[in-house]
Amino acid sequence: MRHTDSLIQYRDLLKQRYEDIGVLGDDRGTAEDFQLRELEIRTAKAYMSDGMAVLDIGSGTGYALRSYAADFAIRGVGLDYAESLVKTAIARSAAPEYRQLKGATEYRHGSVTDMPFEANTFDVVTDSRCLMALLDWGLQKQAIAQVNRVLKPGGVFVMMEGTFQGLQRLNDMRQRFGLTPIDATGMNRLITLKFDEPALMEYGKSILEHVATHRFGMYYFISRVVHPLLVAPEPPRYDARINEIARMIAEQIPDYEGLGHESAFVWRKR
Ligand SMILES: C[S@@+](CC[C@H](N)C(=O)[O-])C[C@H]1O[C@@H](n2cnc3c(N)ncnc32)[C@H](O)[C@@H]1O
Repeated sequence: MRHTDSLIQYRDLLKQRYEDIGVLGDDRGTAEDFQLRELEIRTAKAYMSDGMAVLDIGSGTGYALRSYAADFAIRGVGLDYAESLVKTAIARSAAPEYRQLKGATEYRHGSVTDMPFEANTFDVVTDSRCLMALLDWGLQKQAIAQVNRVLKPGGVFVMMEGTFQGLQRLNDMRQRFGLTPIDATGMNRLITLKFDEPALMEYGKSILEHVATHRFGMYYFISRVVHPLLVAPEPPRYDARINEIARMIAEQIPDYEGLGHESAFVWRKR
């Protein structure tokens, strides 16, 4: 597949898969690699402080937003296009263990391509693997422009998304050790169109200021190279102890060789 190809013909199928996850209501349904999600959350929290208005796009069951609001007195808003996920997130936030968070959370139904918010509303917008679900570069650019619109001037966009280049680096490393390449589309479950990093950088810089790029290379090296070699011929499992160790090491030493689909691209509104 060329990096700029569209997978938009799968849009309805993917939307149905997200609705089904919402009905099941499992936090890990939208993030099978739940250790990696903890690294994402940690990365995003570095840009937050008390009193901020924070929008999480593609908020799923609200797992990340609840974690942000547990640590900071934010006004947190989650946005998702799957009605069942929004319902689950609202129900979850009413559970006794989440009533005492420092911050407030609310959830809205809507699409990132046409956000139901006023311009200049949020100090931080977070994104954990939502924009890849748009399956089309034109729509991804539209969503980034929407994020720019709803951010306050000086506000920060923590965009945690997959790229073809990061996955290629990981697959090159896997090949050196006789491991099969990981498919870029996620076709059997959560279908994604990853980003072409040079195109993302060119477009992003045309409207926003690029602040930093954080990689998760160490986590990917241990979980996607060492782990499968260790357990072969059994398949690796997301809940294996070594992934927990990979996360622990990655908290201290985040990157190794830029490996892995996902990176955190941090942007600031001018
Ligand atoms: C890979 S899941 C990640 C969910 C959550 N951020 C997490 O870490 O578990 C992507 C999320 O984006 C949502 N999503 C996909 N397309 C969207 C759109 N156009 N507008 C809003 N949300 C969308 C999905 O329903 C899903 O909850």
